[in-house]
Amino acid sequence: MKQYDVRKSGRRRFLRDAVAMTGAVAAGALLPAVTRAQSAKIRLGVMLPYTGTYAQLGLAIENGLRLALEQGGGKLGGREFEIFKVDDESEPSKATDNANRLITRDKVDVLIGSVHSGVAMGMIKVAREAGTLLVIPNAGADAATGALCAPNVFRTSFSNWQPVHPLGRVMAERGHKRAVFITWKYAAGEESLASFREAFTAVGGTVVKELFVPFPNVEFQALLTEIAALRPDAVACFFAGGGAVKFVKDYAAAGLKDKIPLYGSGFLTEGVLAAQGDAAEGLLTTLHYAESLDNPKNKAFRASYLKTYKTHADVYAVQGYDTGLLLMQALDKVGGDVGNRSAVIAAMEAAVIDSPRGQWKMSKAHNPIQDIYLRRAEKGDNKVIGVAWKALEDPARGCKL
Ligand code: BEZ
Repeated sequence: MKQYDVRKSGRRRFLRDAVAMTGAVAAGALLPAVTRAQSAKIRLGVMLPYTGTYAQLGLAIENGLRLALEQGGGKLGGREFEIFKVDDESEPSKATDNANRLITRDKVDVLIGSVHSGVAMGMIKVAREAGTLLVIPNAGADAATGALCAPNVFRTSFSNWQPVHPLGRVMAERGHKRAVFITWKYAAGEESLASFREAFTAVGGTVVKELFVPFPNVEFQALLTEIAALRPDAVACFFAGGGAVKFVKDYAAAGLKDKIPLYGSGFLTEGVLAAQGDAAEGLLTTLHYAESLDNPKNKAFRASYLKTYKTHADVYAVQGYDTGLLLMQALDKVGGDVGNRSAVIAAMEAAVIDSPRGQWKMSKAHNPIQDIYLRRAEKGDNKVIGVAWKALEDPARGCKL
């Protein structure tokens, strides 16, 4: 496995800065190099989906990020910052070009993104090669903090393994033995399924059928007919964003809701309950956040978010917010010296995030160690009905950090 080399990337950065400096000196900027570097704006490259089925998720992440940075005084380690944005369209085939453009054209100091696991995989490849700091504010691709973990890659959200892992136990405790899993055919769906299967079979359950639709298709009818014919005890799933709205409505419209209980990772009902309406009422899901979490940080966050954006915060907004908290904490610690990457990395590794989801810290592999909540959809809210798993840490399979 190719490891990130702080010294090598430091040399690259030095050469890049040296080229930039030639122009600056010619322009008469005669401040000492360190002072000048420290006084320039910190450049944040934000790569998120602003179109397609995950558009709402991308916007919520950006909103959360901006809110944290504004609440922190609008500076990072005492320095101003500038945000460079790219719509990644949840399109993995464009991910490396988009990330490379942010690094080479916009010269960003930190890459932030994305929502879709396949896009994040492209960003990881670029970040590992360039040595640029990458913070993942949603995408759960297990490899990001598993086999492809790297000193400069951090995640503030979850691994795909995490949110559904407790679901196996939850469903078994409710007497379900035979389950169908249905999802989109891409990393997030496949890895959620693998984690669910691992947990459900460990407590005696069987996944009798695995059903897939291509991402981001929402033609569920044929598979719903198949579920009705299979008559499992329950159905578990991974869907999010616009696709989750359609799936929950189609499941109810097919007459399955009252016959075969539907469960999911909490993305199923996150940020979309109003659009799902009655079709979502009573659904049980597991996730690292719920709007009804009763802690002062969550209450204050939700109130500020509503006031600022005139819409309710969801888990994606929280993950963006926590990305801002992490960057502020780390850059304050190094006095804004974002070029001192080994110090920034050490500060990010040591960070304790006082999040609306509850306090969390980074695992050795740079993924949150966090509580997973059991929630029930009730009248437009995801109500917390318990902690499904306390301080759940991703197994970080294959990570050599
Ligand atoms: C993913 O692709 O990793 C993902 C997308 C939306 C919600 C959760 C995970």
